[in-house]
Amino acid sequence: MGKKPTPTVMDKLVSLTKRRGFIFQSSEIYGGINSCYDYGPLGVEMKKNIKELWWKSMVYERDDIEGIDASILMHPRVWEASGHVEGFTDPLVDCKKCKMRWRADQIDVSKGCPNCGGELTEPRMFNLMFKTFMGPVEDQAHVVYLRPETAQGIYVNFHNVREASRQKVPFGIAQIGKAFRNEITPGNFIFRTREFEQMEMQFFVKPGTDEEWFQYWKEKRMAWYERLGIRKEKLRFHQHGEDELAHYAKAAFDIEYEFPFGWSEIEGIHNRTDFDLKRHQEYSGKDLRYFDQEAGEKYLPYVIETSTGVDRLMLTALVDAYTEEPDRVVLRLKPQIAPIKAAVFPLVKRDGMPEIAHQITDSLRKDFKVFYDESGSVGRRYRRQDEAGTPYCITVDSQTLEDGTVTVRERDSMEQIRLSKDKVLEFLKEKLDK
Ligand code: GAP
Repeated sequence: MGKKPTPTVMDKLVSLTKRRGFIFQSSEIYGGINSCYDYGPLGVEMKKNIKELWWKSMVYERDDIEGIDASILMHPRVWEASGHVEGFTDPLVDCKKCKMRWRADQIDVSKGCPNCGGELTEPRMFNLMFKTFMGPVEDQAHVVYLRPETAQGIYVNFHNVREASRQKVPFGIAQIGKAFRNEITPGNFIFRTREFEQMEMQFFVKPGTDEEWFQYWKEKRMAWYERLGIRKEKLRFHQHGEDELAHYAKAAFDIEYEFPFGWSEIEGIHNRTDFDLKRHQEYSGKDLRYFDQEAGEKYLPYVIETSTGVDRLMLTALVDAYTEEPDRVVLRLKPQIAPIKAAVFPLVKRDGMPEIAHQITDSLRKDFKVFYDESGSVGRRYRRQDEAGTPYCITVDSQTLEDGTVTVRERDSMEQIRLSKDKVLEFLKEKLDK
């Protein structure tokens, strides 16, 4: 019998996320569908927390960025104007022998198939947009696309948002929403999927000030990852060379994270110039210029874009937090993004301890996602919460019956303190506000 291969960190993480209800394979009972995933009870909470953290820093903490939520289906001309119909393509090659499919720009085609060395087909250009039909007639005139980026919903609303919110350039528009790409090589769990969620912000600036703003957003975005709790040494910038630049960009930097499968992009910061507004002006026939009252001139603003993926940040945070210790596995998630903020346990199921633990749980519910657990030994209950990334566990024990104090155990240090049960809410509020 052959030896079982040792599971990699990614294998172990995938299995933990399934076991604990973070992430499931989509349509699993039918054998799953390639590269589609569902977020379970803990996953949906964590995803919501990541989005909130981003939205807070973009929209609530500044007065020069407005939020929108544009529709996924847009006028098909949008994608002609944006360049996606023509240019959003990857070169695809197939192995004639083992039938594996590759992106020609990611392998050395002169060496044949990376899997079996077989002969490869000539590259074919493959458009990454998903197509469907609007209405009952399935012909070319009724084709619509599932958006491959949320950015275009922002450009076409530039003047709507500006007028309604009375913003002046420079200002930005932020959006969180689903995007779809028929990726040739999806993979690495939720790193590259065909359906994903983006968090994008387009900042409109006066031409000539774009390089300064580009620098500003580059630094601002890198600093934000501290709020997500990502280790600094695992992050770096990667500047796009001429051959890597997207069709719309004058300059681009990626923020990369060091995953177990190597350094990979988690966010793109692009100077898109006036490419998009100019193209929409041309294709729609509408004047999209901005009248700058102070300068007394009309111009098409330049755009600095920051674009990241919720799913990719979820993977980043999970990988970064995953820690194996001699007697436990712990997700050292920043408390702000942890799905459950506190678990409450009665030490035993008698002597009135469950009642007190329930009262504490109820007093916390309005402010936090909390979890009551009375099953198994307290040690096992701690381990379960460590794996779920819960930062605090509160235990009601016999001393609680005497003096009204409970044990509060911190996840990472495993240190325990005693606190009056009436002070738990205040304690958590203070800890989770940071
Ligand atoms: N609007 C610009 C834009 O879409 P991008 O570099 O193609 O730029 C931005 O994508 C971010 O969106 C990436 O850094 C990544 O976080 C996320 N993303 C892109 N494609 C993805 C995919 N197939 N699966 C998951 N996330 C993806």
